[in-house]
Amino acid sequence: MIEERLVKECFEKQFGTDRCAIFTAPGRINLIGEHTDYNNGFVLPASIDKCITVAIRTNQTTTVKVYSMDYDESVIFDINGEKPAQQWACYIYGVVQEMKKRRAPVGGFNAVFGGDIPLGAGMSSSAALESVFGLALNDKFELWFSRRDLAQIGQMTEHNYVGVRCGIMDQFASLCGQAGKVIKLDCQSLEYEYFPFNPEGIKLVLIDTMVKHSLASSEYNVRRSQCEAGVAVVASHKKKIESLRDITMPLLNKYKDEMDPVVYKRCAFVINENQRLIEGCAALDKGNYKLFGKKMYATHEGLSKEYEVSCKELDFIVKIAKTHKDVLGARMMGGGFGGCVLSMVEDKAYDSYIDDVKQQYKKEFNIDPRVIDVVISDGAKKWLAKKEIAD
Ligand code: GLA
Repeated sequence: MIEERLVKECFEKQFGTDRCAIFTAPGRINLIGEHTDYNNGFVLPASIDKCITVAIRTNQTTTVKVYSMDYDESVIFDINGEKPAQQWACYIYGVVQEMKKRRAPVGGFNAVFGGDIPLGAGMSSSAALESVFGLALNDKFELWFSRRDLAQIGQMTEHNYVGVRCGIMDQFASLCGQAGKVIKLDCQSLEYEYFPFNPEGIKLVLIDTMVKHSLASSEYNVRRSQCEAGVAVVASHKKKIESLRDITMPLLNKYKDEMDPVVYKRCAFVINENQRLIEGCAALDKGNYKLFGKKMYATHEGLSKEYEVSCKELDFIVKIAKTHKDVLGARMMGGGFGGCVLSMVEDKAYDSYIDDVKQQYKKEFNIDPRVIDVVISDGAKKWLAKKEIAD
């Protein structure tokens, strides 16, 4: 995590005072339940020890001045004005607009932010950005949004200002995560429960393919539409069907002939993935991480063959994982088309697995993969600095 002190120092350099409040929000991993959130299904994410940290102070105007430490770039926009040109600033602008839509008395502010969530690696750096600004503005302008509201504000920022019709998993995990626990979130009711996830002698590690396919966000929206098309077919026969959550495999099969085969495949994946998550949680309850790992492999298979959001680089790493018997589970994580493979590895096998992946991956693609160890850590929070002064 970037040190809070560095962000504060940078704020002072930019704005000539260190009188600011500090907030931080993490990226996330997702253990199982992929592409289920926007289908009203279940997900099992956790917040991690890689964060975005913001130093912020209100400025009594309607102007927002933000400096990104990672891009070494400043942006100024008016909260009542046009969307800024820089993509990263659109996330902040979007959060402000979504708050205004909800009649929140949000005003101008000065801010600096930086972090250590690898960009574009599928660890939800954008959700962390929305969440950290959501939490900071909520606090500084006393808006009284709940964390659940803030997650929705972040999600709607993606829909309306970035163009990705994402689900709510990433923002929810960033805002509501707890150290050592995964969140079983029901994306239909937004009810959630925590499951302890601290297997002794087992590590979680991400291997970043370093591949970012430009198709990611357009294909994401296509997948969402395909799921909606499947739901529409079933709903034309059964009135109360609203999402794939309401459809079982026998029901889907009943109308299979009326569906495009690709649509059928997508829907079948989502229905089975929800089931896998429920079985995965039962395994966690019994401390059976081996069985949980098997579910992760099955999820990858489905994402690769049925949902078709994997790519050759991700498949390659998962194939290597399967040759190491002490890699209990591995799968691509997040939206897909690049990004990371999440693996659950026994400590004793960690070094040989990582060495093997590094070597073989380099040989196959001439790319060095990036290895990112992750620890499940707390969600977004305000830093209670000793010297904090209220605006
Ligand atoms: C991205 C989206 C999430 C979710 C995942 C796939 O991370 O932002 O809402 O849909 O992809 O599970």
